[in-house]
Amino acid sequence: MRFYEAYTREAAAIRARHAAQTTAEAAALRHKYRQPIFGEIPTWSLFEMMARVIDTADDRLYCTSQEIHMLQVVEAMAADGMASDEFILAALVHDLGKVCMLKGESAENVTYMNSLLATGEPGCGLDQCTLQWSCDDLAWSRLKNHLPPQIAWLVRYHGIEPELCAPYMDAQDRDLAERYLTPFQMYDLFSKSPFKRPRGRLEDYRPIIEKYLPPRIVF
Ligand SMILES: [Fe+2]
Ligand SMILES: [Fe+2]
Repeated sequence: MRFYEAYTREAAAIRARHAAQTTAEAAALRHKYRQPIFGEIPTWSLFEMMARVIDTADDRLYCTSQEIHMLQVVEAMAADGMASDEFILAALVHDLGKVCMLKGESAENVTYMNSLLATGEPGCGLDQCTLQWSCDDLAWSRLKNHLPPQIAWLVRYHGIEPELCAPYMDAQDRDLAERYLTPFQMYDLFSKSPFKRPRGRLEDYRPIIEKYLPPRIVF
């Protein structure tokens, strides 16, 4: 029991530090990650790296790897008949930015949720707002030119608090939020478990990755 309590306490502290991320800190991180982390690498190797990534801020997963997390999301979708190629793709790529932790980035900079730091007028569209920086932004910046636009949008905004952002969404954001963000966040959050071993393997989904992403990528 004390292991859970200690993990949970530390995870909450990390998330609190993320929630306190300032505009200046977000800008510094955005600037830092304009440079590639790994350079041009085989795309598949990024997905393999996820087996070594543990999000210490996540006390639904505990020490469960991000590879297991991806598979849990896919299998939760499949159980509901929601595992279209594009939803599977979203499940596989949405947290890919967390690989920066393998290069020493701290968990407080890659975890969720992401608050608004600056907005335009109500209805201005999320692209006109500034969010706290996290792995969402990193994955989006690297994959946006390869993914279908609606999945790129989902990757970028999968860690927002929808109620907080709703007033600033434009018609397109609202449409994508309803069709993609609402169902995706449910599978993303509620499939997490340190006890649920996925039945499938990452390799099973390699054809979907290869269908959408090029064989090599600058990340
Ligand atoms: Fe995430
Ligand atoms: Fe996730």
